[in-house]
Amino acid sequence: MDRIRIVGGRPLQGSIPISGAKNATLPLMIASLLTADPLILENVPRLADVRLLQRILGNHGVDVMIGGKRAGESTYDGETLHLSAARIVDTTAPYDLVSRMRASFWVIGPLVARIGEAKVSMPGGCAIGTRPVDLLIMVLERLGAEIAIDGGYVLARAPRGLRGGDIAFPKVTVGGTHTALMAAALADGTTVIDNAAREPEIVDVADCLNKMGARISGAGSSRIVIDGVARLSGARHRVLPDRIETGTYAMAVAMAGGDVLLENTRPDLLQTALDVLSESGVVVSATNEGVRVARNGAGIAPVTVRTAPFPGFPTDLQAQLMALMTRAKGTSRITETIFENRFMHVQELVRFGARIHLDGETATIEGVEQLRGAPVMATDLRASVSLVIAALAAEGETMVHRVYHLDRGFERLEDKLAACGAEIARISG
Ligand code: UD1
Repeated sequence: MDRIRIVGGRPLQGSIPISGAKNATLPLMIASLLTADPLILENVPRLADVRLLQRILGNHGVDVMIGGKRAGESTYDGETLHLSAARIVDTTAPYDLVSRMRASFWVIGPLVARIGEAKVSMPGGCAIGTRPVDLLIMVLERLGAEIAIDGGYVLARAPRGLRGGDIAFPKVTVGGTHTALMAAALADGTTVIDNAAREPEIVDVADCLNKMGARISGAGSSRIVIDGVARLSGARHRVLPDRIETGTYAMAVAMAGGDVLLENTRPDLLQTALDVLSESGVVVSATNEGVRVARNGAGIAPVTVRTAPFPGFPTDLQAQLMALMTRAKGTSRITETIFENRFMHVQELVRFGARIHLDGETATIEGVEQLRGAPVMATDLRASVSLVIAALAAEGETMVHRVYHLDRGFERLEDKLAACGAEIARISG
């Protein structure tokens, strides 16, 4: 199993290209199931989760082709995927595939909408608390599907097609909103979603569906209206920049010190997180090429933050912010409101000498003068990158084990950081 070795203490200088967003790429790939025509996605990040979803979609009969590079493109431009679901050969998504990535459960929406049936294993994915699918099932029921649960599988049937309906989510759910968009796009009649997720990835998926012929309005607000259409066609769509990757590198620069331009990204995708960084004393500025982040000499000021659905502070940056706050000059408080049990990184950060006290959903972090490198273990996708951030500022050597978690969501992390002067390398095997 690969490990990553980091020797801390070097400031970061230069630029880091930001990849396409994983959390938009996955639902966009799944949207290919809605049409018999090819869907072409550009700026797709090279990630283990994308490869796994290719296999899952392949199982349903989706033909996936990775386009070659075009003149003038660099390897950092991401891949172009051509997805063609001309014929769905299998409506079952088996346990051994779905259990490895939670988002693959989302195939259930398009399969029921287009074929009238789906049998999808209950999901797995990151071990961050219980992550039920009751609200996704509610969506399909509201649109007229019959649901049965048998042997760990959800069976959804709508032999005469789905019909529009009103969906009011009791809590904001990204996966529930994606499922509602995709299922309602091909339903008969109008669907109104209330308390919809407002994440930029929802807007990106709605934009792509509209290019495919869907009639969706209001994406990005908490009320989305979808007028169902009889069929969707192919489209070409460029995946938006990854705001979590952007925020992660912004925190890495804040932690290590230095001055870095995060290229091909936009500040409006993560304004709340950038505001928190500014509050902590980091200089953040928007440029034509992206977002510039600098911390030269100034100390890190403590902050108090609660995670919240977009436009709030993202839960997917909580672990990274906590790593940064381990070195703040004072006491910080971070409250996790989205996922229970999303504090697995705490025990690993403590191995660096961090002082963190957990009380229910709130972590109190007392900043320390210096962290010391240590052998640590990646536990989930976002938690593992928080260990890399801690290591960048720790004295001496850190070895991060189980980095396959990192490979699920961060494209060439060690190359991007090494290019800015970090002493970081992957050790294979
Ligand atoms: C997505 C993101 C993930 C991010 C999360 C919250 C992708 C691929 N993943 O995950 O990176 O951390 O949004 O921003 O985009 N819930 C229920 N019942 C359900 C569904 C969800 O109770 O049927 C709860 C969850 O347990 C959680 C909350 O709703 O407490 C939000 O989860 P949700 O927004 O659905 O997360 P995901 O879509 O799985």
